[in-house]
Amino acid sequence: MSRIDDLLSRMTLDEKIGQLVMQALGAGTIVTGPGAATDSSVDDVRQGRIGSILNLVGRDRILALQKIAVEETRLGIPLLVGLDVIHGYLTDAPVPLAETAAFRPDLWEETARMAAEEAAEDGVHLTFAPMLDLARDPRWGRMVEGPGEDPYVGRVMAAAKTAGFQGRDLTDPLSIGATAKHFVAYGAVNAGREYASVEVSDRTLHEFYLPAFKAAVDAGTVAIMPAFHDIAGRPMSGDKALLTGLVRDTWGFDGIYVSDYDAIGELVAHGVAADMAEAAAIGLEAGMDIDMMSAAYREGLKPAIERGLVSVDLLDATVRRVLAVKERLGLFDNPYARGTIAVARPRQERRALVRAVGAASCVLLKNDDAVLPLAPTGGRIALIGPFATTKREMIGAWYGLGDREEAVTIEAGVRAGFPHREVVVVEGVSGLGTETDGIAEAVAAAGEADLVLLAVGEAAELSGEAASRVRPGFTGRQAELVSAVIATGKPVVILLVCGRPLIETEAFAAAAAVLVIWHPGSEGGAAVAEVLSGRRPPSGKLPVSWPSHLGQVPIFYAQRNTGRPYAEGEFFVTKYVDASNEPLYPFGYGLSYTTFELGEPIVEATRFKPGETVNVTVRLANTGPVSADTTVFLFSHDCVASTARPILELKRFQTVTLAAGEETFLHFDLEPADFECLGPDLVPRAEPGDFVLSVGFSADRRLVKTVRVTLGD
Ligand code: GLC
Repeated sequence: MSRIDDLLSRMTLDEKIGQLVMQALGAGTIVTGPGAATDSSVDDVRQGRIGSILNLVGRDRILALQKIAVEETRLGIPLLVGLDVIHGYLTDAPVPLAETAAFRPDLWEETARMAAEEAAEDGVHLTFAPMLDLARDPRWGRMVEGPGEDPYVGRVMAAAKTAGFQGRDLTDPLSIGATAKHFVAYGAVNAGREYASVEVSDRTLHEFYLPAFKAAVDAGTVAIMPAFHDIAGRPMSGDKALLTGLVRDTWGFDGIYVSDYDAIGELVAHGVAADMAEAAAIGLEAGMDIDMMSAAYREGLKPAIERGLVSVDLLDATVRRVLAVKERLGLFDNPYARGTIAVARPRQERRALVRAVGAASCVLLKNDDAVLPLAPTGGRIALIGPFATTKREMIGAWYGLGDREEAVTIEAGVRAGFPHREVVVVEGVSGLGTETDGIAEAVAAAGEADLVLLAVGEAAELSGEAASRVRPGFTGRQAELVSAVIATGKPVVILLVCGRPLIETEAFAAAAAVLVIWHPGSEGGAAVAEVLSGRRPPSGKLPVSWPSHLGQVPIFYAQRNTGRPYAEGEFFVTKYVDASNEPLYPFGYGLSYTTFELGEPIVEATRFKPGETVNVTVRLANTGPVSADTTVFLFSHDCVASTARPILELKRFQTVTLAAGEETFLHFDLEPADFECLGPDLVPRAEPGDFVLSVGFSADRRLVKTVRVTLGD
């Protein structure tokens, strides 16, 4: 008899329910949702009423609790310890949206691996990451946590992060389980409003939002977290068709569903359950395994069984899955391994990694008169703005314990990066406050300087969860500071601190340069200084379309053509009368300190048969003065299909380093699946006909180079 069979045969009903309950325990707890984290106690662990914990930090506390679970409960089943290790544990990488801008899957995996090691060293078993919610709407604050707008990027990110967190061996004490979240289409909340309902077509769900989760399942994620929202009235925590029908039965997912915070209990608020017993029954029936922080399973499962709403068999099957994940993580054999192992990677190596990723994530949107890079010597620099000196804005949302590590501020980075230049620092205004009396001092400092660095943008606490904004722009009174400083006529470089595109079109137009630094991580200021100095030329590319006006939102590059595509000067075409259809900056956009040139895409044959691969080769040259990285995107357009196809669909990207004057040839191999689309029955199929393959440095259709290929019968 297997360990799990043996345990199940001996477990009481209460012990079975306890394995499905995840609670935060008061002391030492990070709070990430509503409700008291203190109404659970250590005795609940001792009595087997809690099988998993979240948000407890500190190896001593975790190991003490694990010791109780293993040595003082009747069956000695170890606890599963979960935490949001999103973009770092102690050493924070840039926020996920920023890291996506590096378009470096190797770095995406590496930072996840590093975070896993730091968290495992402190006793964590499972992270509630990667967050895979694609987003087209910067009003939604959680755009910061995800991989941007593109489904292919989402798939690559899912695989890289799952591999990074889980490593090659889940029982490795430096590996932690991954949780693909938030299933699914959370980024499409109505009007960008947090937790609101979602209305998406099945096609959009399958073509756009589901692929990243499928990639996580294929990469072996041990957990998935369904989201808070409903899709067309079906709350995700109760959607059996998706959770069990699609993900388990069709995709073969063999891990567990961990609910989002209180989400199963919230089925009552959704209006699909009358009480906790019904909520528990709906959740269990849908396939939800662990109930995070709600009373549904804890208080509702027993009455649900007594009322015949669910069976003990279903309960047993659910408990079996949870025990299986604990076994896969090695918790039965080594319950104390995580928390007693030391990270091999030296701290300085971790700091160097996040500094490199921070620099690679910066996106240069504008650089008039090559005002950047800054010379190592020269006139005074005025570093102005509320984020010039703050550490909090360097680590952004979901920073884990990153606030306990010294984040490098922009001031510290600039002073260290430019030791032979005088640097004057004036905050001017705060990030969120209403005071403006510091603007005069800022203007005076600008007037006496040769160049201004403006560290402005969005306060860190205004992005992330429960942070939707109707006007995603400069926060507090920064707009006035920016206007006043720009009015001095000095060259102004905006260092944009943000977790989403900020719509500040006029300010960007008036500045000499705009460098998006996002929330650049624990080494933020140092990373920014490396970009400003040219030691690391900017190579970041926008992972989301950047709107020129909020009225364009939701905005994304993979639009369908419509029956009346835009045409200059035409009236009856898809357009706005008061703005362009185009974003201010397109997906994939980002300048460098050098220039690159792409040749025409070459294919071995313009006709190919079903099942054949198509190899695309393109010449890339660095035609400018310095070595730098750039990313080349390969898009496809299915010209005629049974359903209208997006005008561009990203199929591959490559990021390469080229020395000044160097050229190379990039090779892209497109597989048969890259030419498939979902038929009317939403089943993938290859439809004969023409495809236009486009290569470019962004999704700007005016600048891509194309080749037409034909899929024959
Ligand atoms: C939060 C978030 C989720 C997080 C969980 C646990 O509400 O929605 O992303 O993993 O609760 O902290």
